[in-house]
Amino acid sequence: MMLQNLRQAISAAILADEDALLDQLIEKAQLTPAEQAATEVLATELINQLRSARRRRTGVDAFTQEYALSSEEGVVLMCLAESLLRVPDAETQDRLIRDKVAGRDWDRHLGRSDSTFVNASTWALMLTGQVVEAAQSGRWDFDAIWRSVAARLGEPVIRQAVIAAVRLLGRHFVMGRTMDEAIAAARPLMQRGYRFSFDMLGEAAVTRADATRYFERYRTAIHAIAKTWFSRTGSIFGRPGISIKLTALHPRFEYAKRRRVMLELIPDLAALIAEARDAHLPVTLDAEEADRLDLMLDVFGALGEERSLRGWDGLGLAVQGYQKRALPVIAWLAGLAEQQKRRIPVRLVKGAYWDSEIKRAQELGLEDYPVFTRKAGTDTSYIACVRALLAAHDRLFPQFATHNAHTMAVVQAIAHTNRDFEFQRLHGMGEALYEYYEDFSRSGGAGAPARIYAPVGSHEDLLAYLIRRLLENGANTSFVHRLANETAPVEKLIADPVERLKSVQPKRNPNIPLPADIFAGRRTAPGALLADPVAANRITSRMRTAFDTEQFSAAPIIGGKVCPRTEQARFDPADRTRPIGTASEATPDDARDALTLASAAQDGWDRLGGARRAEMLERAADLFQHNRRRLMALLVREAGRTVQNALNEWREAIDYLRYYALAARGSFETPEYLPGVTGERNELALRGRGVFACIAPWNFPLSIFTGQAAAALAAGNAVLAKPAEQTPLIAAAAVRIFLEAGVPGDVLHLLPGDGARIGQAILSDPRVAGVAFTGSTETAALINRQLAA
Ligand code: FAD
Ligand code: 2OP
Repeated sequence: MMLQNLRQAISAAILADEDALLDQLIEKAQLTPAEQAATEVLATELINQLRSARRRRTGVDAFTQEYALSSEEGVVLMCLAESLLRVPDAETQDRLIRDKVAGRDWDRHLGRSDSTFVNASTWALMLTGQVVEAAQSGRWDFDAIWRSVAARLGEPVIRQAVIAAVRLLGRHFVMGRTMDEAIAAARPLMQRGYRFSFDMLGEAAVTRADATRYFERYRTAIHAIAKTWFSRTGSIFGRPGISIKLTALHPRFEYAKRRRVMLELIPDLAALIAEARDAHLPVTLDAEEADRLDLMLDVFGALGEERSLRGWDGLGLAVQGYQKRALPVIAWLAGLAEQQKRRIPVRLVKGAYWDSEIKRAQELGLEDYPVFTRKAGTDTSYIACVRALLAAHDRLFPQFATHNAHTMAVVQAIAHTNRDFEFQRLHGMGEALYEYYEDFSRSGGAGAPARIYAPVGSHEDLLAYLIRRLLENGANTSFVHRLANETAPVEKLIADPVERLKSVQPKRNPNIPLPADIFAGRRTAPGALLADPVAANRITSRMRTAFDTEQFSAAPIIGGKVCPRTEQARFDPADRTRPIGTASEATPDDARDALTLASAAQDGWDRLGGARRAEMLERAADLFQHNRRRLMALLVREAGRTVQNALNEWREAIDYLRYYALAARGSFETPEYLPGVTGERNELALRGRGVFACIAPWNFPLSIFTGQAAAALAAGNAVLAKPAEQTPLIAAAAVRIFLEAGVPGDVLHLLPGDGARIGQAILSDPRVAGVAFTGSTETAALINRQLAA
């Protein structure tokens, strides 16, 4: 197949139907009886050895076992670890500790673990918690008590203890703060046959300066490794190397910035990698978030075309099995290897960003997830990829990164007698597993070589990496976590995930609702993945068509009638020579007329009842949805929003409409994070209060404009809507939709124009029952003065 078709197959799989896809993957992953038997033997042996050697468990293993993420205390510790390392001042650190540690059940963890580290930490946390609780239960001022207790016990002592524990956790996963330290620590392991890939901690650069700093660190690392382990011969696959995160090397590593990234990143990156090539050191590009993948593949393909890297076998990348695109990516890589006449090292991982992928897809309102939702789905995909990699090993050099004994055994079974691949583990994880695998190889099992991924850096750059490791160690789906749980029987740990998956229906996890269904009672507005080239092209070309073919205008809309006044041309704020439509402003008389009509209509609107009003708001939501391309086009052209922001804002407007429709029906959704709201009827839904002036800002010209009006209308108020002077066209489009949805023209009026003039005309009128305002404090003060007049 042509490379281009192979790329299209990747795009097609992003949000594929999980059940249909897994049915295909099950067929590909299915183990033969011989493979099954071989897997079972090796997995059982490894697990039994691991279990019988509990004394070798590290403090960190025991710690993450005791404080699993399924316990409240585990989550608290994760929050502490996440935040303490980056809170710069002692006072905030103390407040954070106080806030998180109080009121938790620490004592139930005491003495349950045989690790001194765990018990000492538990004891410290318990003590801190009790101090805080005692202080909180007293009648005195909490802060005063804390200060007095801390004066006796020493607040810095408590802080230092907690921070030290977090740093200790962190240090466990880092090979060294500098390359010198890391090289010294790696030496004895190299002598035992381990290969290494050094990773400079740091990712998601936000400034050019950050990216430059990370570049320099990689360059220093390449020189240090080259100096220590100089060689120009031997297989490149056996050499120590480096692992790179592309988000560290460019501050906008996003698909939307593709042109800029390709232009700015490729020359520097190619030069850096050419230095590794000169020193005969392999380079792997790490896999990061799903929405970086397309850009990463573009960069990877382009690097292979660079003259300095052409035909080089040392440039590889990581592929995440949990992504629905994993298998098509491997097919594309095999095609690329053929075209670029090189062998590509491919590190197959399951994927370290699962939780955030789920959350992100929900946030973006995607039609489905880019990752599998059951662990067995990921395992099945991983095994299908193992087969694909081993089958293409003439073009790809397979590297299987796992800490799961069963996965390791499956690889070994499928590879059969082939040993032209390697296993990989992270520093600080899977040590014992890899040692037993080494024993097994030495005792005639003929194992494959192993590589250690070794992070290097200081705690400032550790945070994101540390959190991923704590998630991996603390998640109850994780092999390392289940292994440490003595009550989990070996049979369960070695159960074939493909067989398990075959027996469950549906194959997608029903406990994880689709992104649109995460709220009870209403669907969220549909989003799109702009990091997907196909979706991005579709949306932007439709927006362009809207702009090329439609006329945009705004004028006062009073009593349902458009009332043009003196028309003025409007221009794109990003290009002031580009006209985008015409608008005219409301006069003070218009405002007074609108108020009279609104005031007369309000009572009837209120008496219509919440259910009827809700129907109209829901119809408006449907119409907003139907009008996506023109609303988004306006947001980009009139308000200067980016395409992503325009999409987010359009979705938010629809969510407001559906949210307030629920409120109007009296069935307010009751988020768990709002204690006390449960079951209560929404006050707003009970009665209208009169005419509301809704004054919206320019920076959210559609969502806040719509939200203010929808809230007031839902409750039974009439509305005079005053958009920001910069964005009358968007507001006019929104009001037309409200009217089309059935909201009477006497109930909702549009008054574009100068806020002070319009405000002066109506705000001191007693028929104005309230003002919904979002904007500057100066304007708020002006409004207050007018209301008071
Ligand atoms: P297992 O316990 O068998 O698998 C755990 C994994 O299963 C989770 O990490 C997740 O991927 C998946 N999972 C868990 N719950 C669910 C669920 N409900 N639905 C679907 N899937 C689920 N990760 C990257 O993302 N990019 C990299 O570049 C990368 N490089 C690595 C390099 C090395 C050498 C190693 C060892 C790991 C690397 N990782 C990377 C991390 C890797 O993704 C995790 O270590 C790996 O997922 C753990 O898998 P396992 O087979 O050891 O454990
Ligand atoms: C991570 O940074 C190891 O790349 C993997 O989590």
